Amino acid sequence: ASNAMWGGRFESGPSAVMEKINASIGFDKRFYRHDIMGSKAHCAMLVRQGILSEDDGRAIIDGLDQVLQEIEDGRFEFKTELEDIHMNVEARLAEIIGEPAGRLHTARSRNDQVATDFRLWTRDALDEIDRGLEALQRALIAQAEAHAETVMPGFTHLQAAQPITFGHHMMAYVEMIGRDRGRFGDCRTRLNECPLGAAALAGTSFPIDRHATAELLGFDRPCANSLDAVSDRDFALEFLSAASICAIHLSRLAEEMVIWTTAQFAFVKLSDGYTTGSSIMPQKRNPDAAELVRAKAGRVIGDLNSLLIVMKGLPLAYSKDMQDDKEPVFEAYDTLELCIAAMTGMITDLRVNSERCRESASAGFTTATDMADWLVRELNMPFRRAHHVAGSLVKLAETKGCDLPDLTLAEMQSIEPGITAAAMAVLTVEASVRSRTSFGGTAPDNVRAAAHAARDVFLAG
Ligand code: ARG
Repeated sequence: ASNAMWGGRFESGPSAVMEKINASIGFDKRFYRHDIMGSKAHCAMLVRQGILSEDDGRAIIDGLDQVLQEIEDGRFEFKTELEDIHMNVEARLAEIIGEPAGRLHTARSRNDQVATDFRLWTRDALDEIDRGLEALQRALIAQAEAHAETVMPGFTHLQAAQPITFGHHMMAYVEMIGRDRGRFGDCRTRLNECPLGAAALAGTSFPIDRHATAELLGFDRPCANSLDAVSDRDFALEFLSAASICAIHLSRLAEEMVIWTTAQFAFVKLSDGYTTGSSIMPQKRNPDAAELVRAKAGRVIGDLNSLLIVMKGLPLAYSKDMQDDKEPVFEAYDTLELCIAAMTGMITDLRVNSERCRESASAGFTTATDMADWLVRELNMPFRRAHHVAGSLVKLAETKGCDLPDLTLAEMQSIEPGITAAAMAVLTVEASVRSRTSFGGTAPDNVRAAAHAARDVFLAG
């Protein structure tokens, strides 16, 4: 049998394989709420413009509400032969209300319909992600406040570099997540134009009111160009780009969890809730959640690539290739949501071993820069020379097998006679972090102020 939606010029129906490759209902059923919302807005506008009778309009709206209810109750039967969510909904509407159902598609095409559904869905997804990221920032800020004074090594090349505070490290991620939220927010702003009424590609001869439907659906305005309205998937690409960058941030933090939980580092302990054991090694506490967050960033990046490649050669306007735009976005969204939740849980429960962090911070001559700075400040030495002197002190300590602060004053003076007992005071890790008061620096007071400010900037209430 030929297709009920477009079968007029066909003798017979599609082959089974055609039906299978053509159908998107398996995944685009996720649009059901937005599809029905869009149809109701379109219907209300058609009535207001006198294109549809009041009676037909009422029948359609009531029928759509019933379809929505059936889907939400799990009573709706999705059919592959009806291709996608749009035709599944409309076909069921026809079963319920009969002839008026066929009038709903006046001045509309599936091309503007799917573009509208997808934007509405993505807008909701963006709002969900923003809530998740705010919760993650809240957890990071709480750890930053609890550990504003906890000294740990800061690294470059994963080699101990200079002492920092644990809170400062947490606040670095608060900044990254803040920019992620900004990127998602920018995406939302640009996304918020309504394709509905662009019809297949050229607009329509019916006296529709696109501004009205845009407003009913919470869009800022209708898309200005009908071709662009049905062809554009920038919003999906932008979503995936922002998601990829965000996933990379989560992955870097996850990687730090993996490193920090090792027996060799032992800076932090993940809670039982976010750790697994080994089936053979009884002592093991594996950071699986962190490892999976690290792995899943790869999927999100893959999703971005996948849609970029689908889109890159498509001529205007709609091509069926664009039906394949949804799965990457769904996967990226589901993956990112899960990763955000897992990371928020890990950070919330995280126990920091302050003693161990402090101990590690003092190993590896991490206050050598403080020594050089002292020579500059107190002896008015050019920094380059001070660097050289401090380097010689490190070499001496290394030969002696001790830390910098363990050198005697006499030993220090053997390298630079101007050094006084006062220099010893700057060599502790506490003094080092306390001295880093420059804007954005790691000093505990700075961290407390940054956390306080971040609550105002990023957290609602
Ligand atoms: N299921 C289709 C999609 O997701 C809807 C649009 C179909 N349009 C068309 N011209 N065949 O892209």
